[in-house]
Amino acid sequence: MANIIHVVGTGTIGEPLIGLFTDFKHHLEIDEVTFHKRTPLESDRARINHLIARGARLATDADRRADFETLGHTVTYGAEQALERATVVIDCTPVGNKMKEQFYSSLPGPKGFLAQGSEEGFGKPYARGVNDEAMIPGEDRFVQIVSCNTHNITTLVKTLAEEKDGGYAMERGTFVCMRRANDITQADSFIPAPNVGKHDSAEFGTHHAKDAHRVFETLDMDLDLFSSAVKLNTQYMHSIWFTMQMNRDVTIEEIERRLKSNLLVATTSKRQSNLIFSFGRDHGYCGRILSQTVVSLPTLMVRHGREVYGFCFTPQDGNSLLSSVAAALWLIDPDAESMSRRLTPMRRWLYAEI
Ligand SMILES: NC(=O)c1ccc[n+]([C@@H]2O[C@H](COP(=O)([O-])OP(=O)(O)OC[C@H]3O[C@@H](n4cnc5c(N)ncnc54)[C@H](OP(=O)(O)O)[C@@H]3O)[C@@H](O)[C@H]2O)c1
Repeated sequence: MANIIHVVGTGTIGEPLIGLFTDFKHHLEIDEVTFHKRTPLESDRARINHLIARGARLATDADRRADFETLGHTVTYGAEQALERATVVIDCTPVGNKMKEQFYSSLPGPKGFLAQGSEEGFGKPYARGVNDEAMIPGEDRFVQIVSCNTHNITTLVKTLAEEKDGGYAMERGTFVCMRRANDITQADSFIPAPNVGKHDSAEFGTHHAKDAHRVFETLDMDLDLFSSAVKLNTQYMHSIWFTMQMNRDVTIEEIERRLKSNLLVATTSKRQSNLIFSFGRDHGYCGRILSQTVVSLPTLMVRHGREVYGFCFTPQDGNSLLSSVAAALWLIDPDAESMSRRLTPMRRWLYAEI
């Protein structure tokens, strides 16, 4: 049986994911990469042609096929045909839940379906390296890859708080997510000044801590997490201020040692997000850092023995890309040894130091 990855959506997250699967098809043991684009646009022609030239195959809705062909694209499949042929469908649209209801849930063929950060309720929330043990082969056919800041928060909590016996040495975690206004791929939604967010959840503040709590719930943990959010007038990566109240004394040396021993965490002596971002541009995959978080070491502090403070940066869609690839490979074959082998090419974009 051929292993076919089908990506729905060619936006900020879909486009690099199609490229990643296409470029590393052989290492990832994927036979074919197909993708669905909804809207035929002249302004998107160059990037769609480039994806096709790299080996990915385009699927479109029947009523848009002629428009795509007029633009010069080779359309290989119809939208429904591509879904039926797929081994794993990776939804990269802001309407994954709607697509599940309309199409995915009635498709018997694919081994599984992934949706992204905005699609709460799509399936089991997943972040690579945080809750892999919660994934049940044969049962978790629908998986939600959590948002970029949720990857960052859950990785920080696990790295700094997990004890040898599996318990967590943390009483409470508080996070201020300082978000970039829009992505460099987006031409709208820029803001002229910092824009502070409301606290919609009485328990968690904003959805970031709520989503992180949902990830830990899959491990039967009920952690006290709270977040606030502010949007900044920058296109560079998100930054997070955090404080964690521990239930035992810790030292700065222990905090640094824990961060440096997690392969999914990058540390840095830098304090400016543009310098982290430009490292990604020069050394990342399509400009992306795939590490779950980049922690700024000079900002770390331990107060009164049990309060940990610091700042970190969120490799916005890089961490979601890594989890998307890992979850798709897991759906194809959950064997841990085989997963580790197939994920080898991704490791070059997981940095110990930035
Ligand atoms: N942006 C990030 O940094 C980031 C990071 C982590 C997770 N995510 C998550 O990734 C998901 C997608 O976000 P994004 O930023 O990549 O969005 P985006 O750049 O706006 O792209 C959305 C894509 O979805 C397609 N689409 C929208 N509605 C559709 C529909 N009804 N049917 C078929 N296709 C449809 C669009 O197709 P057309 O343009 O062809 O119409 C476009 O290709 C969201 O869940 C988001 O939370 C985003």
